[in-house]
Amino acid sequence: MARNLGIGLLLMITVVSIQVQSKRSPNIDSVCLGNMLRLSIGPLKGKALEVDAKNASHILALTPNLASKCGFSVKMDSMGNAMVFASLQNCFVQNSDDETFTTVTYLRLKGNNITNDETYAVEKTCTYTPWAFREILCDRNYMEVSVRRTVLDNPLPEQSNAKSYTNLGRFRRAANRKTATASGYSVTTVVFTIPEQRVMKIDQVQRTGYGITNTPTRLVLRSPLNAPEMFFQNVAGVPMAVLKTSTILENTLLSTQIDSSVACPTPGSVSFTPNMITWSVPRRIDPLVSSCNFQLKEVFLGVEGMRLSPGEVMARRYSLSLNKMHIILQIPVGAVGGYFKSHVKNGQYLTTYSIEPMLEILWTEDDPPKDTRYKVLFPITTPFIISPLQLVDRIVPEEGVFKVELGTFLQDVELINITFLDGVLSVAECNDRGFNIEELSFPNGSKSIALTVPFTDRAVLNKMDARNVIYTLHMVFGLVVLPEYSSFTYTAVTEVSVKGIVPAYITGTCDHENFHVTVKSGNQVQNLRIVVGQRLLTPEIAEQYRIVTEGAHIFITVPFYAPDTVFEVIESSSIRSKLHVSLRDPVTMNIQHFSLSCSFLSALTECFANGTIAAVAAKIESVPSMIPSQLTLKDSACGPAYSDDRIARFLFTGRSCGTTRQFISSVMLYENEISLPSKPVAANGVQMEEPQYMLKVFCYYMVNATHSAAFLTNPRNNDPHVHTTRSQLQVIMRLAQDISYNLFQEMEEFPLVMNLREPLYFEVEVEVPMNSDPRVVLKLEYCWATLKEDRKSQPRWNLIINGCENTEDPFQVVFHPVSADARVQYPSHFKRFEVQMFSFMDEDNPSYLVYVHCDVVICDDKFPSDGLCSEQCVNKKTKGQRRAFSEGDSTEHVTSGPILMFK
Ligand SMILES: *[C@@H]1O[C@H](CO)[C@@H](O)[C@H](O)[C@H]1NC(C)=O
Ligand SMILES: *[C@@H]1O[C@H](CO)[C@@H](O)[C@H](O)[C@H]1NC(C)=O
Ligand SMILES: *[C@@H]1O[C@H](CO)[C@@H](O)[C@H](O)[C@H]1NC(C)=O
Ligand SMILES: *[C@@H]1O[C@H](CO)[C@@H](O)[C@H](O)[C@H]1NC(C)=O
Ligand SMILES: *[C@@H]1O[C@H](CO)[C@@H](O)[C@H](O)[C@H]1NC(C)=O
Ligand SMILES: *[C@@H]1O[C@H](CO)[C@@H](O)[C@H](O)[C@H]1NC(C)=O
Repeated sequence: MARNLGIGLLLMITVVSIQVQSKRSPNIDSVCLGNMLRLSIGPLKGKALEVDAKNASHILALTPNLASKCGFSVKMDSMGNAMVFASLQNCFVQNSDDETFTTVTYLRLKGNNITNDETYAVEKTCTYTPWAFREILCDRNYMEVSVRRTVLDNPLPEQSNAKSYTNLGRFRRAANRKTATASGYSVTTVVFTIPEQRVMKIDQVQRTGYGITNTPTRLVLRSPLNAPEMFFQNVAGVPMAVLKTSTILENTLLSTQIDSSVACPTPGSVSFTPNMITWSVPRRIDPLVSSCNFQLKEVFLGVEGMRLSPGEVMARRYSLSLNKMHIILQIPVGAVGGYFKSHVKNGQYLTTYSIEPMLEILWTEDDPPKDTRYKVLFPITTPFIISPLQLVDRIVPEEGVFKVELGTFLQDVELINITFLDGVLSVAECNDRGFNIEELSFPNGSKSIALTVPFTDRAVLNKMDARNVIYTLHMVFGLVVLPEYSSFTYTAVTEVSVKGIVPAYITGTCDHENFHVTVKSGNQVQNLRIVVGQRLLTPEIAEQYRIVTEGAHIFITVPFYAPDTVFEVIESSSIRSKLHVSLRDPVTMNIQHFSLSCSFLSALTECFANGTIAAVAAKIESVPSMIPSQLTLKDSACGPAYSDDRIARFLFTGRSCGTTRQFISSVMLYENEISLPSKPVAANGVQMEEPQYMLKVFCYYMVNATHSAAFLTNPRNNDPHVHTTRSQLQVIMRLAQDISYNLFQEMEEFPLVMNLREPLYFEVEVEVPMNSDPRVVLKLEYCWATLKEDRKSQPRWNLIINGCENTEDPFQVVFHPVSADARVQYPSHFKRFEVQMFSFMDEDNPSYLVYVHCDVVICDDKFPSDGLCSEQCVNKKTKGQRRAFSEGDSTEHVTSGPILMFK
């Protein structure tokens, strides 16, 4: 992927941000480290790093193959930082006289969204002059040797060496075609010793993945660590990767060979104990330093390519030692300079510790004088360290919560969710439910996760025995390791036993006719005895009530009138009843009391449509000695129709047992009272002190003016639950078939078809329940006819005005007296009148519908208003004036019809 770029565009700039979209750019740093260059970039914030390198004309993406061929390596750590190492002699460098080296790279950060990708150009120039005769660089992915080219020092004798290079002739012929370099020599051939010899032309060498550069003064050969011509050799007991090569350079006249062998340590040079990393490097690396009179001049220790001072080495507790054979570096696991990383393998949480130490060694040889600088950047990662997770209980039972800590994790672990017995909750959902998830960080950089779950939460199971409550919490923690999102789980069950007795408790409510008591048993459920009222709740008694047991709850339903309740207050339409429940623990002798009082609407008094009144009196708590059978109505001859030890039931009518009656506005009120007969006088003449018992019994009959318009329908109350003390005064208008008033038109016959001038016989009755009361008097006040059902509609023909016939009508209404007979018990409840249809004649229509309406007055004959109520039309003088009614009187309206009239 090569593209051309304007040359010189970036030459003078050290770090140029080409594209910065995120607000916080990563930190970018570049540093020259001897024969290397190091770029740092981070944090990457989860993005991938790609590196491009640029030579004078091209920009190329550094693939792993190109990186190892060209002298680049990239290192990532678990904190999301990256380092790019480059050999100063990398194949993209702009090399000025082997003294200054300029490298241009592009660091590209790629996320999921291409629009957020960032690219940073880094140009770094390093100066490095103390080149040793030979410089060897071992990096994580390549080994590099750079040898001073003293071509003429080491001419390849045409004849003498022919024995060694048996195959060379062929290559020399080919090499002759090469053009010379500036110094006149170019690399033509590389001879690999594996240990058998393999000779390769320069093109093939490069195709195979080797990098070969001929700089002004040096020859550089670079090999990937997995090169086919590389082999392993045990050097002083340390396995090394070795590439033995001779590079042949030629000009038109001469050829020369340069030893370009290189050897680097392999992972086998490291050994681990749980706490210590030991890395051994041979003191003398035979393939490189064969002469016996070599000297180890310098050893430097560093990390990530940078030398450390002896003080730093000590502070970090690294140790560097030499013995006869080895240079030995020891690094404690966890030491500064490295980092831990989390892993998941087979569902297990593991960690590793990684560090990248650097050794720089300088050897010298005397004869001929050659120095070799040897630099190894050596990434070491420990084997998996089992890091057992632990759930630590920090429960304080008194606080009523589970407090657990799961740990310890590295920072690269994240809790995703927790599965409880009742489902999976994300961390956010846990916090919403009050579980308060926290991360606790430790000074060493690890952390644990703390969780609080109340004992009362539904995720918590509880079991009870006589002495303890055992709370159990099941959890499966769902965790991931970042950035790779490998998931793992940790399953835990924690249990706490809370000592002591958990008391039972009782709560209760009422509905319209029952007490509902809930007993929540504590841990004493086996022994618990429940007493309802005065009785122990035995299975026999339990049968009388509805008892449901659900877990630790017992639900008891008791009707308000049940024998175990007591009545506190009795009113005409309600009764306040009380239920007492106690819990007894025979072991601890604990008794808990609970009582609940509620008012229940109750039909203690019933007023039946036929005038019968039923009333119930009940024994109340405050009159414990009352004997219900002794109760009477006002008329002490009227005793209960039924009685037992708690209640007495009375049946009477509006006319019996001393019942009084009065009109109050539009209500007729019947009244009686239930009481104990007068107390007998004690021997000493003092009335016995006994609380009075007096229950008033009322029956109201509402006079509902607008609702009584039903014509010819018997007021049938289909509802068996008559409103306790109210009934409706019903006024009915009927149409008789003839003047005998024995037979009436049926409802279904309407509309009636009548001929003009045919008389119509109307009867109006005030019905139930007053037909049992002869004192009620009905009077017709106004009657009229309309063509529409609406009684207020026009036109309107007046028939009866103010109780008297309309004198302006040529065919006046005729009133008919009513006398008692089989059907009529109390004539005062009735009125009858006759009207001729001629009255309604309309000139234009051959037929029409007619409705007849009446306003009626119901009054009391005991208090006749001006004595007018009993008679229909007493005083014609009052005609035209509205008669004054007494307070208690009430007015009603009735309507009949329709009647279809024909001319
Ligand atoms: C830059 O790299 C390209 C691709 O490897 C190569 O063809 C070109 O010759 C190089 N240019 C220089 C000036 O080294
Ligand atoms: C990529 O990021 C841009 C800018 O932040 C945003 O508008 C766009 O919706 C994102 N596209 C996707 C596929 O997420
Ligand atoms: C870090 O500290 C915690 C708490 O002291 C300890 O439990 C944990 O093992 C330590 N982790 C490491 C890696 O040393
Ligand atoms: C819970 O988290 C884990 C990650 O450890 C994941 O694999 C699993 O799908 C999550 N479960 C639910 C229901 O989200
Ligand atoms: C009145 O009606 C009630 C309820 O329907 C009934 O129990 C009672 O016997 C009736 N009384 C008479 C006198 O008909
Ligand atoms: C009277 O009749 C009206 C209309 O039907 C009704 O809404 C009202 O409840 C009745 N009143 C009584 C006291 O029955």
